[in-house]
Amino acid sequence: MNNHLQTLTQQVCEVARKAGAYLLSERKNFSEDKIEQKHAHDYVSYVDKSSEDIIVAELRAILPDAGFLTEEGSATHNDEQYWWVIDPLDGTTNYVHGFNPFAVCIALRNKTEILLGVVYEATLDECFYAYKGGGAYLNSQPIHVNSAHAIDQALLGIELPYDSSRYKDIALKLIGHFFGYAGGIRMNGSAAVAICNVAAGRWDGWIERYIGQWDYMAAAIILQEAGGKVTNFDGDEFFLNGDDIVASNSTVHQDLLDALKLTR
Ligand code: IPD
Ligand code: CA
Repeated sequence: MNNHLQTLTQQVCEVARKAGAYLLSERKNFSEDKIEQKHAHDYVSYVDKSSEDIIVAELRAILPDAGFLTEEGSATHNDEQYWWVIDPLDGTTNYVHGFNPFAVCIALRNKTEILLGVVYEATLDECFYAYKGGGAYLNSQPIHVNSAHAIDQALLGIELPYDSSRYKDIALKLIGHFFGYAGGIRMNGSAAVAICNVAAGRWDGWIERYIGQWDYMAAAIILQEAGGKVTNFDGDEFFLNGDDIVASNSTVHQDLLDALKLTR
């Protein structure tokens, strides 16, 4: 199984790179009149949809029996044993503003676990990937969290989801709690890249709620394989079907969960 997963992961990296190349080339001609709004401040364009079409067609050819959960909803899953979880463009708001980062995210999961994940950040040509039990990599180099950082040195991501009405109070309390207490606070507009930043030891923790499985699924296994910890807001390691994620270098995980208790 491991050999098979390793080969499959390499194939998925190629698919993600192909979709990423498409995103980069379309950005040269992108104009704002091509943007549609899904909800307040939540955008989509033909680029997200075409990227998804490229990915779904390629993955169908690689694993014909797998189902799909995709952000733009062009393919579905029913009773398949395995299914792909795909964000064809994570960081859409960055993309439409000509800002970075943005990424292609592809994970393969079953009912109980994530088998592989690939996050390709196109602007820096950074391909993060992992498969179960195989370690985590960035462009073929092994990556690892920086577990030496305690909370007072930790660089934390406090991301802001589109659902401001439900999250505003939580976000403000988290920022208020960590500002001046943690080493620093960032947000970068791509949940997947943020979690990979923790996996690569650049950041030490990250928190967000009201996100899609496609935003975090691929990055979550990359972080786990890089030695990090992923739970939901209650600290439960079975987070796969939820919309709330706490990701860390392990060392600061309890600090993040304790801070979330203060928001309730
Ligand atoms: C969004 C990004 C963003 C996060 C949002 C996500 P999208 O995904 O990951 O960082 O704050 O909650 O929905 O819309 O760019 O694919
Ligand atoms: Ca997206």
